[in-house]
Amino acid sequence: MSLVEWTTDIETGIDEIDRQHRRFTEMLNEFHDKLEECTSLDEERALTGKAVGELAQYAARHFEYEEKMLSDCHYQGLSLQQECHGFFRDKLDEIIGRHRAGERLLTLDIIHFMRRWWLDHITTSDRQYVAVVKDCAAGQPGNCGGGEGNR
Ligand SMILES: [Fe+2]
Ligand SMILES: [Fe+2]
Repeated sequence: MSLVEWTTDIETGIDEIDRQHRRFTEMLNEFHDKLEECTSLDEERALTGKAVGELAQYAARHFEYEEKMLSDCHYQGLSLQQECHGFFRDKLDEIIGRHRAGERLLTLDIIHFMRRWWLDHITTSDRQYVAVVKDCAAGQPGNCGGGEGNR
């Protein structure tokens, strides 16, 4: 069984965002599957370095995309999003640094940390911007109460 089963209730309904969120969870599942196939500590160490590096890069690209989208929509919660993204980015940078320094890390703990943070973030913080982004895409920026009659 996969580490993360993708279900529609994790989705935001914004296609490109869902595609990127899902891709990260697929990469995480692949990492988890490969870990189970490792037959030595050296193998596990090499896998961890490679997989965490790739996941960190993918997450950074996603955060950049998302923050640009939110900025274009004048989303009020942008700085909070940036703060959350920064926390995750720093955490992965720290893991990569410790790994490079030769520290022995528990790969499964890293995978579970990433899984927990990612699912929690996309189902809470990211969900909060959905209405604003959809209004913005429909050409109605902001939550002004909308409608022709309210002008
Ligand atoms: Fe996101
Ligand atoms: Fe986000």
